[in-house]
Amino acid sequence: MTQSWARHDMDFLGGRRLRRMRRTPWSRALVRETTLSPADLIWPLFLIEGQNERSGVRTMPGVERLSVDLAVEAAREAAREGIPALALFPNTAADLRTEGAEEAWNPDNLTNRAIRAIKDAVPEIGLIADVALDPYTSHGHDGVMAGDTVLNDETVALLCRQALAQAEAGADIVAPSDMMDGRVGAIRAALDEAGHEHVAIMAYAAKFASAFYGPFREAVGSGARLRGDKRTYQLDYANAEEALREVELDLAEGADMVMVKPGMPYLDIVRQVRDSFNVPVFAYQVSGEYAMIAMAGEAGAIDRQAAMMESLFAFKRAGAKGVLTYFALETARILNR
Ligand code: PBG
Repeated sequence: MTQSWARHDMDFLGGRRLRRMRRTPWSRALVRETTLSPADLIWPLFLIEGQNERSGVRTMPGVERLSVDLAVEAAREAAREGIPALALFPNTAADLRTEGAEEAWNPDNLTNRAIRAIKDAVPEIGLIADVALDPYTSHGHDGVMAGDTVLNDETVALLCRQALAQAEAGADIVAPSDMMDGRVGAIRAALDEAGHEHVAIMAYAAKFASAFYGPFREAVGSGARLRGDKRTYQLDYANAEEALREVELDLAEGADMVMVKPGMPYLDIVRQVRDSFNVPVFAYQVSGEYAMIAMAGEAGAIDRQAAMMESLFAFKRAGAKGVLTYFALETARILNR
């Protein structure tokens, strides 16, 4: 049976047909607006104690915590694939987590040992150290507490000590993820005073109190400890204008780069920051976003790699200079093939 669809008059198109350039791979490539390269990717790594130790994160299939020696190997591989920088997160031993988070500024803590070892073996890769107390506190908050209150100014003084220890160890960038008021300015001053004026600050400027951090808290071991939630310091997810005020303040205090976090549900914030400020903006595709794609992929609901690529292009399209993503190595390998 032959089809006999009536052909309507299409004169209103005036010859304009957007499908024309979508017909072939080469014409799609020709008009593609956004690019993704390994240089756009920052790879977050979880650290554990030991030698030749790796341990999986149950809620992040495909992600492992690595001992320092294996983190060095991972760094070598990342550098080979053209990834410019790593972000380091320690799973601190239980007996080193205290009310006062003293381990945070121990020159020989897990993060600082990893920084020295990686800098020594793979000097060409940039190292980003997270500044916040949650991997070191017995209560899982990013600052020190009095009763139920996370203290601001007292915490800032400790964050400065933490950032200094990271800079001494060789961190290239310190990244305050704590959301205390005034921490960027205080850390900048402390670094400069100690002769670390070349150490850059990537501020977690617009960091929202989010349900998407769950798997990260399992990975660093802070989740089960956490008393209450982080809404007295992280942003309310209903607020975009306040996020812009956070960015403005962090830039005024001396941030070199700013970050929006989480990523995919906050692409509107990425776009607004990009349009409002002339500064490199990064987005963090956080642990819960990784888990959604990885687990939906395992369940056969979506194609893992296709969803991964689409999500990373979305960050670039929204205006991000780069993306912190647990998919960094996997993506770089595909892009380099
Ligand atoms: C804590 C910190 C968090 C993340 C990075 N630094 C979690 C939190 O604020 O509770 C989350 C990263 C992720 O979910 O991938 N300072």
